[in-house]
Amino acid sequence: MTKAVWTTMTEIILQYTGLWPTAFFTIVALMVVTYKVVCGMFFSADDFVPIKRQPLHLGDMTEEELRAYNGSDSEKPLLMAIKGKIYDVSTSKIFYGPGGSYAMFAGRDASRALAQLSFKPEDINGNLEGLSDAQLEILQDWEYKFMDKYAQVGQLVPKKTPTENKAEEESVWDRTSAEGIKSRYAADE
Ligand code: HEM
Repeated sequence: MTKAVWTTMTEIILQYTGLWPTAFFTIVALMVVTYKVVCGMFFSADDFVPIKRQPLHLGDMTEEELRAYNGSDSEKPLLMAIKGKIYDVSTSKIFYGPGGSYAMFAGRDASRALAQLSFKPEDINGNLEGLSDAQLEILQDWEYKFMDKYAQVGQLVPKKTPTENKAEEESVWDRTSAEGIKSRYAADE
């Protein structure tokens, strides 16, 4: 039975291609290998895997906290802020990741630098003071670009003053006063 199928296949291949099955299958195998090699030169298998990412929400952050997202920790997303709005720019690692042309903007509010089209370290901040209308317009265009391309994941907030920190600690103390009193008594014993 198997022999009959093989004989029929041989006849069909010979009839249609003029080749013996061994030659025919060798040519097919070579074509497949060539196709894979050529495709591999342009695409990698990863290109076809859809990127599934949970939308991030990191909330309020100070400029100091934002610095941690500058690509130095590969476990963390790459973030960048414009006009105080923080965007997840991880998809553009090539620009903002370590060694990227715009890596200096990662983990920063780059508003002033973008408005002035400057790479000077002293301009990489969120200070808009003294910018001309034209520069503010340039910044607005950057903001539109980022809004369109990246997800906003949070907002920059000013650094807390020592007084605010103390007030927060006290309110935490109030909320947990029952435990606080218990542990104070426990410490006294
Ligand atoms: C010699 C001048 C410059 C050239 C030739 C240049 C070229 C480019 C190119 C080709 C891209 C990729 C565009 C894309 O695929 O979307 C790009 C992106 C970018 N450029 Fe420049 N650039 C120049 C100057 C600047 C300056 C002065 C700044 C700001 C200070 C800047 C900031 C950026 C940023 C932030 C991106 C990435 C935008 C994104 O996240 O999509 N560039 N640039």
